[in-house]
Amino acid sequence: MKKAFIKSYGCQMNVYDATRMADLLGREGFVETGAVEEADVVVLNTCHIREKAAEKVYSELGRLRVLKGERAEAGLDTTVVVAGCVAQAEGREILGRAPGVDVVVGPQSYHRLPDLLRRARTERVVDTDFPVEEKFDHLPPRRAAGTSAFLTVQEGCDKFCAFCVVPYTRGAEVSRPVAKLLAEADRLVAGGARELTLIGQNVNAYHGEGPDGAVWSLGRLLRHLAGLPGILRLRYTTSHPNDMDDDLIAAHRDSPAVMPYLHLPVQSGSDRILAAMNRRHDADAYRRLIDRVRAARPDIALSSDFIVGFPGETDADHAATLRLVADVGFASAFSFKYSPRPGTPAAESADAVPESVKSARLAELQELLERQRQGFNHATVGRTVDVLLEKPGRHPGQVAGKSPYLQAVQIEAGTDTIGTVVPVRITRAGSNSLFGELAGAAPAAAA
Ligand code: SAH
Ligand code: SF4
Ligand code: F3S
Repeated sequence: MKKAFIKSYGCQMNVYDATRMADLLGREGFVETGAVEEADVVVLNTCHIREKAAEKVYSELGRLRVLKGERAEAGLDTTVVVAGCVAQAEGREILGRAPGVDVVVGPQSYHRLPDLLRRARTERVVDTDFPVEEKFDHLPPRRAAGTSAFLTVQEGCDKFCAFCVVPYTRGAEVSRPVAKLLAEADRLVAGGARELTLIGQNVNAYHGEGPDGAVWSLGRLLRHLAGLPGILRLRYTTSHPNDMDDDLIAAHRDSPAVMPYLHLPVQSGSDRILAAMNRRHDADAYRRLIDRVRAARPDIALSSDFIVGFPGETDADHAATLRLVADVGFASAFSFKYSPRPGTPAAESADAVPESVKSARLAELQELLERQRQGFNHATVGRTVDVLLEKPGRHPGQVAGKSPYLQAVQIEAGTDTIGTVVPVRITRAGSNSLFGELAGAAPAAAA
């Protein structure tokens, strides 16, 4: 039996793509392995978003070259594939920098992987096309993916934020047709999925062709999916503030399956920096938007992404970011030091912020965000919330799941409860998980 090892870096889209590559290799007779040393094919599904992420790949490729040599001595072939956004951004250059690499394939052409593997027997191959054919039409049907599954509904980005490589690595924004998504959703539900997370680089810009010929928005798609039997929960990520329309906000109010959680990156709280980043909205527009979302769903948990140390960022700009965070209050967040990326407009700026200043600002921001996260988690203690149980917990007799607010929850229960939503009374908040007990047959409180 041929074996494939697939490792993903970066965002949820890469995680989704990795499952699709596994499906594809499965059709070719490969089984997936978690042990890289026994793999006949090794796929690194890479991320280009920050320098650190991209550089990690090269150290991994160095180790793989050694492994490949050892396997060759034992008479075993190893094909090394670099997929994902570094593949797209660097293409053929990778072959020069990493001699052990056999195949370089971009995020829009990985459906051609079987053919590329055949060609790789005689030559090193690179495919970073944005092909006209639909990648998804060439992938095998989805296989079982667990209680909670990703579903790509939209790919690519036309926003061109000044710091970001995604429009270059993933290409222009494309929405998949509704009928295709419903078919994929059906397979996932039949395979045991109870929660679907609709993903896209700009998921709330979704505008797919509906079965009725009309253009469907994300709000309409969510409402429709919410009505399908077997689907208990819906989430979506990642959204841009400018695409957060009334219809989508209303879906949070009207559809109980649409979870009260919103990841809405703002990046900065300074109007000057937001303009320089080409985000096309100011800090107050974000505050007003949050007010509208909260009016529709008062208990919604908010999450965001932040970049500190964008070129030209002053202490006053940074203070404006801290003010925005204090005003809004986030349940969770990701924050990063600005990393100049080749080919992006911001990388040309002369007024770089010193590394030590970036570090200090990041520490200050993260301290505030962490306090808010802990505060949010502690506020759940004593409440009864619905938990979707997803997998065995850390210890025998425990099962792990998620609250509506995407908090990890551990309870004492049998594994036969996996795949169900149960009311749980939260008794304690740890640093990364909540702990609770089954609240019996009593109806769950508000959430
Ligand atoms: N499509 C999503 C996410 C893009 S990447 C969106 O539009 O929000 C995820 C996050 O990485 C971004 O939100 C941003 O905070 C961060 N990021 C992107 N480029 C970066 C860079 N050059 N340096 C540091 N952080 C970056
Ligand atoms: Fe990148 Fe901006 Fe597009 Fe998000 S919206 S993927 S940050 S260019
Ligand atoms: Fe990284 Fe590409 Fe996702 S750059 S964040 S893997 S879209």
